[in-house]
Amino acid sequence: MNSYGEFALLYDELMDDFDYVAWSEYIQEILKNNGIGKTSILEMACGTGNLSEELLKKGFSIDAFDLSHEMLAIANNKLSNFKNKRLFKMDMEEFKMDRTYGAVISACDSINYILEENSLRKTFNRVYEHLEDGGIFIFDINTEYKLSEILGNNIFIEDRDDVFYTWENHYHEDTGICDFYLTFFQSNNGSEYRRFDEHHREKAYSVETIDRLLKEAGFTEILVYEAFGFRGIKDDSERINFVAKK
Ligand SMILES: C[S@@+](CC[C@H](N)C(=O)[O-])C[C@H]1O[C@@H](n2cnc3c(N)ncnc32)[C@H](O)[C@@H]1O
Repeated sequence: MNSYGEFALLYDELMDDFDYVAWSEYIQEILKNNGIGKTSILEMACGTGNLSEELLKKGFSIDAFDLSHEMLAIANNKLSNFKNKRLFKMDMEEFKMDRTYGAVISACDSINYILEENSLRKTFNRVYEHLEDGGIFIFDINTEYKLSEILGNNIFIEDRDDVFYTWENHYHEDTGICDFYLTFFQSNNGSEYRRFDEHHREKAYSVETIDRLLKEAGFTEILVYEAFGFRGIKDDSERINFVAKK
């Protein structure tokens, strides 16, 4: 599967409607509510480092990793002035760090990129092992509703000055996997366009499945909120946030 290769160079531009400042404030509020101060954080699937950057600005020390070296290259540039950070190329399913953390976070539906229940189980086990006692794991997912009803079996088109792209999606009821076929036409001069394609896949997990796998990994207290607040989830929630305590 080809994902987050050339797209990495456009990621920040195309994600400009995501407010990473607000996202980092939400995470800081969750940490505070759980009695956790300026702790060390591990960010899994950090992408281009937007969330890490905001947390580093607030004085957290961050280790972060991602599977895509193109995304990491951008993160590396972006975070070059921060001393209290380390970046790694690793897989969520089998990462191993040389220390434990007060919090592990993963944002922007990265967890949906794990396509097998057993792989998700392994990820949660890894996270649990890398948390200090009393530490928390914060992550969000795209819901089954969003992947099947909003994104799935739909085509999205975006026309910007320097990039035109289409996003064609297929949701498979039997596996709960949504295939995203992205086609980009990128231009530097507005007259010649270069095409490239990516294929992304996200899996829908029910809250019950995630809750069960977190408990199997050893987490005791699990809270579920509609992102980005502290209310309970609804049938049509599109993004939900989990907080699991060790
Ligand atoms: C939607 S992006 C989110 C990036 C970042 N968390 C953010 O908030 O902008 C999903 C990220 O997950 C990464 N990813 C997907 N599968 C992964 C895996 N198994 N291990 C580590 N990173 C992974 C991708 O490379 C990509 O950077």
